[in-house]
Amino acid sequence: MLTVRAPATSANLGSGFDVFGVALSHPADVVRVEKADEVTIEVTGAGSQYIPEDPEKNTVGAVADALDAPARIKIDKGIRPASGLGSSAASAAAAAVALNELYDRGHSREELVPIAAKGEAVVSGDAHDDNVAPAIMGGFTIATDDGVTKVDADVPLVACLPDIVVSTRDARNVVPQRAKVSQLVETVGNAATLTTGMHRDDPELVGQGMYDSVVTPARAKLIDGYDDVREAAFDAGATGVTISGAGPAVIAACHEGDRRSVGTAMLETFDAHGVDARVHQTHIGDGATLY
Ligand code: HSE
Repeated sequence: MLTVRAPATSANLGSGFDVFGVALSHPADVVRVEKADEVTIEVTGAGSQYIPEDPEKNTVGAVADALDAPARIKIDKGIRPASGLGSSAASAAAAAVALNELYDRGHSREELVPIAAKGEAVVSGDAHDDNVAPAIMGGFTIATDDGVTKVDADVPLVACLPDIVVSTRDARNVVPQRAKVSQLVETVGNAATLTTGMHRDDPELVGQGMYDSVVTPARAKLIDGYDDVREAAFDAGATGVTISGAGPAVIAACHEGDRRSVGTAMLETFDAHGVDARVHQTHIGDGATLY
């Protein structure tokens, strides 16, 4: 039997829609695999009651198929589904790394990214590499059609997950199909600033580069209290705040000493809007780890 832990991730980071992602040091999913004649899946943990165990409908079924790796697969969810923290990507990434090892398939971490993305497509409708890339490779990742570039960055992050469900499909339906050239120029500038900040482990540049005026405002309407939570996080010292992935989690970059106050401000503001939430004080972490 093999065990792999794959981390929660935060995609987009504002200016890098469908491209940027970071691995968070926690929470994480843990996947155990052992060889079997056919694929079976058992799911426990956060939100497991909403996750199908049918291999045709579960994110890891497609991964086992792609690797031709029938196995008894146990998923212990640390990341609830529809959170914006890469829940399905974490399970897919952990399964890809575990089954690649179990059956000695010899794929590199980068080669496993599109394989895990197939699994994620089962639940989100589209194959996006922006969550599976950091879940497999760790760090800050730039996922494009040409492959994945990874930066070993270390920036404090606070992820706040409200008790609201936003499906990736719904959140994609509100993405505007048009943007102004001025917004394109702004986005390129912010994405470049953020990438430079990751190379320098600089929370100020990373935070500055998280601003996005195209996708985030449209999605903010799906998250009760988002604008106030964002403002409260900035007041508490955040250097940048945006929606994590497709939401509803909100992700903030900050200096190490401000993590606690930023987290508290976000929690209290969601609470003022009548929304329960939980906070993860985290930093950029490793990708899937084999035990
Ligand atoms: N980039 C995706 C989105 C997240 O924002 O819809 C899931 O990969």
